[in-house]
Amino acid sequence: MGFRTLDDVDVKSRRVLLRVDLNVPIIDGKVTDTTRIKRVASTIEELSWKGAKVILLAHFGRPKGKVSVEHSLKKIIGTMKRVLGCSVYFARDCIGDEAQGAVAAMKDGDVLLFENTRFYAGEEQNDLEFARALAVNGDIYVNDAFSAAHRAHASTEGLARLLPAYVGRLMQAELEALKKGLGDPVRPVVAIIGGAKVSTKIEVLNNLIGKVDALVIGGGMANTFLAADGLNVGKSLCEHDLADAARAIMAKARSEKCTIILPIDAIVAYHFRANVPHQHYGIDAIPADGMILDVGGQSIECINGAIDGAATVVWNGPLGAFELYPFDQGTVQVAKRAAERTREGRLVSIAGGGDTVAALNCAGLAEDFTYLSTAGGAFLEWMEGKPLPGVQILEK
Ligand code: 3PG
Repeated sequence: MGFRTLDDVDVKSRRVLLRVDLNVPIIDGKVTDTTRIKRVASTIEELSWKGAKVILLAHFGRPKGKVSVEHSLKKIIGTMKRVLGCSVYFARDCIGDEAQGAVAAMKDGDVLLFENTRFYAGEEQNDLEFARALAVNGDIYVNDAFSAAHRAHASTEGLARLLPAYVGRLMQAELEALKKGLGDPVRPVVAIIGGAKVSTKIEVLNNLIGKVDALVIGGGMANTFLAADGLNVGKSLCEHDLADAARAIMAKARSEKCTIILPIDAIVAYHFRANVPHQHYGIDAIPADGMILDVGGQSIECINGAIDGAATVVWNGPLGAFELYPFDQGTVQVAKRAAERTREGRLVSIAGGGDTVAALNCAGLAEDFTYLSTAGGAFLEWMEGKPLPGVQILEK
């Protein structure tokens, strides 16, 4: 399937409704991570430079169809201006007179941000009337919000039915990277799946088994697999009720010839805190009152060996409690190896998800990966093999 891109349209003097993801973290009124804004900057700049009237559509948080100051996009305008290095106008509504008046005042090249689309219930309901009310302000629709593409909302899906629709540069890069990851990857492919809970990733694991050559399972979720295999995991995070699901995943992997790599040793502590005393144990000797907080050195060697043999690595979720020093070491050491192989041109490395991005940023390795997706839910649904409505509707 192909997509129409910005190379396929003349945007000069046209009103372009550009869906972006500005769902950025804000603490005490300040944007604490501008990555998502930086990532859409190139599409905004290109459209503006080509003489389009660039109208940004975005959601912020989950206001559930109600206007709320807490969820206003107005508070990110200052950061937008600074990151984009241009004026960004703001309309206090995304439909109706306020929106139309602001668009009518635009000159070619101007950038205007509409207020949160989720202030209307019609957004999440993908209501046709609401989509039409958005569409009257545009001649062209461009979607650059891969990270919101798992939502079939009016601004992510409905608009593509009403206006000529294109993918933006960020969405284009994301789709190309994901194709290299699982769509049409160079083999062998190794997936690294970490994080706290198996329950949130059962579908991901099931889908990956049919697609990858080896599956590394780390983080708290590995404990559920180890316990299902009859090992004692002490007081570690573990979903004992999912033992059958874990056994079914391991059986499926055996029948599909996908190697599962579980930790063979671990770093164990007695409190879930940074800098607490900790010890190294073999995986069959975890103390009854201990907690596994990271993979051990032999596991790191084993995972790095799998990376050395891989042509493609897809990664979601940390291998240990990476937010607590020194239990970030497993994640960091493995990330270093993947980064090194990528720099050498021997590996295509695709990583995504909030915790994974945070861990790679902390390790200073984010730039070394082939592609780092800022998408959370959308990246997971892609890994689950689900069609993403916001992408599907753009396919030619
Ligand atoms: C995200 O932050 O992952 C996206 O903006 C989607 O947000 P949502 O989960 O509220 O739809």
